[in-house]
Amino acid sequence: ACPERVFSGIQPTGVPHIGNYIGAIRSWVQLQQSQCEVIYSIVDLHSITVPQEPDVLRENIFSMTACLLACGIDPDKSILFQQSSVPQHSELSWILGCLCSIPRLQHLPQWKEKSKRYKDASVGLFTYPILQAADILLYKSTKVPVGYDQTHHIELSAHLARAFNRSFGVVFPRPVILSGEVTKIRSLRKPQNKMSKSESDSYGRIDLTDPPDLIREKLKKAVTDSMSSVSYDLIGRPGVSNLIDIHCALTGLLEEEVCRQCEGTDTGRYKGQLADVVIETLQPIQAEIKQLLSDKPYLLQILSKGQQKATDIAEKTLSEVKKLVGF
Ligand code: ADP
Ligand code: NA
Repeated sequence: ACPERVFSGIQPTGVPHIGNYIGAIRSWVQLQQSQCEVIYSIVDLHSITVPQEPDVLRENIFSMTACLLACGIDPDKSILFQQSSVPQHSELSWILGCLCSIPRLQHLPQWKEKSKRYKDASVGLFTYPILQAADILLYKSTKVPVGYDQTHHIELSAHLARAFNRSFGVVFPRPVILSGEVTKIRSLRKPQNKMSKSESDSYGRIDLTDPPDLIREKLKKAVTDSMSSVSYDLIGRPGVSNLIDIHCALTGLLEEEVCRQCEGTDTGRYKGQLADVVIETLQPIQAEIKQLLSDKPYLLQILSKGQQKATDIAEKTLSEVKKLVGF
């Protein structure tokens, strides 16, 4: 029997932050130890749905590759590739788009939110969930480890899989979200929002490549509240609770344990202690990123090997699809 396939992607829109690391990349690394075949994509086609600079994008593809490898993605245990290097993603996306109604996309919460944020939203931004469905289905993936924010999009992928199977013949299995411990890390500046690469204030996030002094400064400036003690209350005290969430995620401690350790400590001192933890956790990853970024030929070689492995699967699926469609 075919092993189950895992697929997930990350946009090369910047260096990943500790939210990406805790919420996604760490579980990607763990999944390499499972029985599943694991496929991870640097989804550059998705990152042109909003305006971007070509040279910056090119750099970001390299830095994302280096970051994923440094975090423990192992090209011998997984397929790591650049989405645009496998043109079948765009081809399948077109075919699936012809099975998707406009209202279905209009109802997606992310579209409602993003189309408000970007005044001249592109067709690409509108249809990107179809491309995401193509990313997943091209590999006949069944498990998709993504964050809480992606539920509706994975439901759309399952809908399009069913729509295709009904219209033309059974090709695609039903993909489901794989949610391990899904901790939502919040912005250090606006703890009501998630930490995101796209937040304009870079003090809202800690990037994997931030030097120790900057990490310390960002945590010092993290928004908390008027109480000076350290206690966990996600609704009443989102800022401090977010710091505790980060602490727990990086150390494996429980929130009670962190709070007990912090009895008598004020939030200012606690921020310093957390900075030590973050700096120490990131130190070996940062050393590895630096090393990898100094060897671009190696990164290119990894991506090219990933491209070949991904293409082998993608070509098979797409030729099946095309035949059924009538091409
Ligand atoms: P971003 O919003 O930072 O650009 P992406 O859309 O590239 O993040 O998401 C990459 C992966 O990281 C997804 O699986 C997403 O669910 C996860 N992720 C993103 N932000 C966070 C966060 N603040 N906390 C936990 N997981 C996150
Ligand atoms: Na595996």
